[in-house]
Amino acid sequence: MDELLSRDLASLIHPQHDPAVQRAGRVWVRGDGAMLVDADGNEYIDGLAGLWNVVLGHGRRELADTAREQMATLAYASGYAGSSNPRAIELAERLGRLTYPNINRFFFTSGGAEANESAIKVARSYWKRRGRPGKTKVISRELGYHGTTLAAMSATGIAGYWPQFEPRVPGFVHVPSLSASALEEAISREGADTIAMFLAEPVIGVGGVIVPPDDYFARIREICDQHDVLFAADEVITGFGRTGKWFGLEHWGVAPDIMQFAKGITSGYFPFGGVGVSDAIARSLDEAPGPWMHAYTYSAHPVGCAVALSTLQIIEEENLVAEAARKGALLLEALRSRLGDHPCVGEIRGKGLMCAVEFVKDRVTKAPFAPEEQVGARIHAEAIARGLFSRVRGDVFVLAPPFVIPDATLHRIAEILASATKAVDRLNAMKFT
Ligand SMILES: Cc1ncc(COP(=O)(O)O)c(C=O)c1O
Repeated sequence: MDELLSRDLASLIHPQHDPAVQRAGRVWVRGDGAMLVDADGNEYIDGLAGLWNVVLGHGRRELADTAREQMATLAYASGYAGSSNPRAIELAERLGRLTYPNINRFFFTSGGAEANESAIKVARSYWKRRGRPGKTKVISRELGYHGTTLAAMSATGIAGYWPQFEPRVPGFVHVPSLSASALEEAISREGADTIAMFLAEPVIGVGGVIVPPDDYFARIREICDQHDVLFAADEVITGFGRTGKWFGLEHWGVAPDIMQFAKGITSGYFPFGGVGVSDAIARSLDEAPGPWMHAYTYSAHPVGCAVALSTLQIIEEENLVAEAARKGALLLEALRSRLGDHPCVGEIRGKGLMCAVEFVKDRVTKAPFAPEEQVGARIHAEAIARGLFSRVRGDVFVLAPPFVIPDATLHRIAEILASATKAVDRLNAMKFT
């Protein structure tokens, strides 16, 4: 692996490029179920299902066979107006039955950021076609993550993503994550006539698995309706079962006007995503005088659509949405029983099979560790040394394993994390006494 890593360092630029991190990195060569194998033959639990996306686990022959067959039959055809392919049509029909009742029309992309870009352009073009061209602004949330293309980055509410790439796209406003009245205040401050949409993840993922209070999204829906603001749900992580329901907002009986998806729809086996729109928005696209000037070469990619159809079929056949709910509860319980009383654990939280353990200096006041203490990074390193590979955001350790993970491996995750935490405590004690 050392040889591969030195060639990597000399030739590749990575997402979140950081040579120091890369030097201590892993080169993955194989996967099976919830396990990943590195180039030295070491096995790790894939605690984040890749990047929240490999919901069916690694090494699924059915998905490989589907992709191979589709590639051999028709690997690619234009998805632009004037062309289509059967898999894209079948997938859109299936999503129409599966998603929120008011969402029945779909535009496909190659990933999550493109899905959010598309959602923003859907909303702006919708208001222009409705004769309200001033409605262009996007309100999104602090700690929300929507991707790193320029508009998606501007919607992203994690400030660390901005400074290297300023100026941001104008017209993006951020509000605190869990206060519905903050949205109302922002709309009245900016003027409802200037706002196109409100954009939110049903459960914030990358920002540290933040679950809203039960009344939050119902109130958001009311506020958006009251002020003619479209509500776009970024279901890139929460879609397709991750939270224990097919889609995140189902927990609270709310439907969005626009929904973005990616990741789990192909279980990471093919880069794919998309946006679904309400019947009212679809009508405005159909009735417009000219073409909608938004397009990607790989929109409605036949292989992506075929892999998505197989993924959905397996999720249904193996009852994996219910499994994600059951296993998520089991993982939370295991984490709470092993780490719940720990003096440095501020909170253990989650919804379905997306969970987080937040480490703090003082569990009563929730005061954080100083960033230079690198507590999250050290726990991450100790977890890797014990065979668990996931991610941390600051001092929040996030977990979202494949839905097929065995129950025993969920217990093992909690065991490893508890042992990694103890190892770092010892380091802290040495450093500060
Ligand atoms: C909620 C959410 N939206 C959008 C994205 C961006 O997706 P992609 O990296 O495929 O562009 C992500 C990626 O983590 C995400 O979690």
